[in-house]
Amino acid sequence: MYEDYKNILSELKSHSHFRVLKHFADKDEKFIYYKGKKLLNLSSNNYLNFADNVQITGEFLDYAGKKYSLGSASSRLLTGTLPVYDELETLLADLYGKEAALLYNSGYHANVGISSALNKKGDVVFSDKLNHASIIDGMQLSQGKFFRYPHNDMEALENLLIRERENYNNAFIITESVFSMDGDIADLEKIVELKKKYNCGLIIDEAHAFGVFGEKGLGVAEETGLIDDIDLIVGTFGKAVGSMGAFAVGSGVLIDFLINKSRSFIFSTALPPINIAFSKWIIETKFPKTLKNRRRMLEIAKNMGGKSHIIPVIVGENKDTVDLCEVLFHNGYFTLPIRPPTVPAGTSRIRLSLTCEIEEEELRILKEKICESTLVKQAE
Ligand SMILES: Cc1ncc(COP(=O)(O)O)c(C=O)c1O
Repeated sequence: MYEDYKNILSELKSHSHFRVLKHFADKDEKFIYYKGKKLLNLSSNNYLNFADNVQITGEFLDYAGKKYSLGSASSRLLTGTLPVYDELETLLADLYGKEAALLYNSGYHANVGISSALNKKGDVVFSDKLNHASIIDGMQLSQGKFFRYPHNDMEALENLLIRERENYNNAFIITESVFSMDGDIADLEKIVELKKKYNCGLIIDEAHAFGVFGEKGLGVAEETGLIDDIDLIVGTFGKAVGSMGAFAVGSGVLIDFLINKSRSFIFSTALPPINIAFSKWIIETKFPKTLKNRRRMLEIAKNMGGKSHIIPVIVGENKDTVDLCEVLFHNGYFTLPIRPPTVPAGTSRIRLSLTCEIEEEELRILKEKICESTLVKQAE
């Protein structure tokens, strides 16, 4: 009976799309230990180096002691809402100056729950083509209609709004702020202008920007002064915070609606209290001290041609990309090839993600090897 599954796996293998788990020996806040080598980790979302950090973990445990349990044993709507959840939600709502906040178990839960709940029958979502899989999955689960506009193409978005907006009841525009694979940044000013002109709600996923952009680390919305114009801002704790989970901040009505209708929120056990306490502790005590380092990281990224701390090195063909990763591995860098279907065919790439503690000098050989590889390709 499993013949068809085997055939699909063979097909994946024949196109080099078969995914396997890598078994690392260890990892710390900056390096990863793999196949007997210590490698500078350029493939994690640990932007502020708080995850896998023995000092940070020790400091937190000294503060937290045995106060917080390791399991919630219940969804939030049953017996899962202890004070620490309320405290983190209040902290986030206050930081953003919004009426309310809601915690989710992950960014995936948040996006699936939000896009599927808000987009009711008769409603519509306009979504950037490169938005994360969790947004797409949420839209597919929804009762409403959705359109995907070409990546960051504001003219195409406006044309779509002109053609389609009046055919629907509620309408939302959804975009990431810093795009996860390309590291480029959505034109939030223009999107806010369009959302106002065409009477839409606006949802921004700041997964890769939360903790990195903005004076307080609240994201691109803060950096651009547009927080008040955005109806729902989503952030995650699994990246810069070095924890796990996610949040949405917005009006009381939207958050109440999500509590009542967002199935990924309702039907899942809440994260462990200790995890919520850790996210809160990082945001409260560590975020305010990171501004200088974050700015420095973004400066290094800019020097490498990046628009954010995520820098795509487009190689083109799958094999060339894998070969370049191998060269970098032998020179002390951990990078991963990103291939179709994650990115469009012919744009296979290495996605470099920087973290705050990386020194520019540590990237010198990496830059040389990338340059050499590109030159070899151009000469061919
Ligand atoms: C833009 C974006 N949104 C949401 C998520 C999902 O977040 P989480 O890993 O917390 O499920 C990701 C994760 O990679 C992401 O890149």
